Amino acid sequence: MLQGKNIILGISGGIAAYKAPLIIRLLHTAGASVKVVCTQNALEFTTKTTLETLSEHPVYADVFDRDFVHSTEHISITDWADLMIIAPATGNIIGKFASGIADEALSTTYMAFNGPVFIAPAMNTKMWLSKAVQDNMAEMRNRGHQIIGPDEGNLACGYDGAGRMSQPDEIVDAVKEFFSAESLLEGKTVLITAGPTVENIDPVRFLSNYSSGKMGYAIANEALRQGAKVVLVSGPVNINAPAGVELISVKTAAEMHQVCVDKFADADMAIMAAAVADYRPKDAAEKKIKKSDDEISITFVKNPDILADLGRMKKAGQILGGFALETDHELENAKQKLHNKKADFIVMNSLRDANSAFGYDTNKISVIHASGDVKSFELMTKTEAAKHIIKEAAALIK
Ligand code: CTP
Repeated sequence: MLQGKNIILGISGGIAAYKAPLIIRLLHTAGASVKVVCTQNALEFTTKTTLETLSEHPVYADVFDRDFVHSTEHISITDWADLMIIAPATGNIIGKFASGIADEALSTTYMAFNGPVFIAPAMNTKMWLSKAVQDNMAEMRNRGHQIIGPDEGNLACGYDGAGRMSQPDEIVDAVKEFFSAESLLEGKTVLITAGPTVENIDPVRFLSNYSSGKMGYAIANEALRQGAKVVLVSGPVNINAPAGVELISVKTAAEMHQVCVDKFADADMAIMAAAVADYRPKDAAEKKIKKSDDEISITFVKNPDILADLGRMKKAGQILGGFALETDHELENAKQKLHNKKADFIVMNSLRDANSAFGYDTNKISVIHASGDVKSFELMTKTEAAKHIIKEAAALIK
């Protein structure tokens, strides 16, 4: 299942490091090659001999170790690896990753690696719940890293609560799931829009919306995982684009429209997940608008509808999908958009569903096809929802 995959297992210094050898065993059994990179403290909880015997490779724990063929092992090992797992990930190593500190083998290797990273945190409950660790975890999620656990239970420090490292089989199952992509979009180019657009009112004020970009970025990630070449056209968001996508950052609807029109001709599929401002101020003031005692009014003019324009440009064989975020008459409105904009499918979500859409990590979607088919899904993570959306879209490719 993991045949031919090269995996770095990064181990930091927590008691759960005693379970790391089991992760190596499970990865090996699944067919992967494993190289261990660890902190010196990790070797207080497990031994170099055990890790080297099981991984069949030297352990990289010292950046000044002259035994390595390459003088810069932290660079060559990252060229070799397809994926990196950090298990256990202590609060300290997560803090170093988040703030860009590279002062020993593991943090240096992490900084040089730009592929997928899986993090299995393990620490005392109080440390896990601390603002420092939670802020750093938010940064790990923003970088698109996959977080496994931590589980709740009895901890080595005597506490009961969240902080226990997930079991080795759960960690390895998450990696197997990641590589289980069926190459649904091999050789295809997918154009994706994400995030909000921003329309200036004057040099210090703007009109925008609450879109976080999470759904569009999750779709970009999944399209990439399924083998596509991905062009991601994004409004301003606080998340990092997955490594490997062509990211084009834009601000206004007009800029997003221009890029999409240019890029659509070479795309096999386009999915418009951005929350595009329908209107922009007619004339953005060049100088700051000063306060006065009177009411002010701003005239808005219509922005181009990107999805509708791509619908008009669409050639046979191209697949076009959009979103419909509704507050009422959801299905009716979504079907109307599908028809008006000549899309092949519309992903509908409702602001009436709890924990769904703008800002959340979860979404409850229905995919409405031009054929009339409607597929409704339960509330799920945006990562999971993206898998369903890409599967539905890929099935339309002739
Ligand atoms: N969209 C777009 N360009 C616009 C407006 C919307 O490409 N100027 C796309 C969105 O990315 C989404 C779909 O059209 O895929 C529907 O967006 P939505 O805002 O729900 O629909 P609107 O057509 O703007 O209709 P309304 O705001 O009246 O619901």
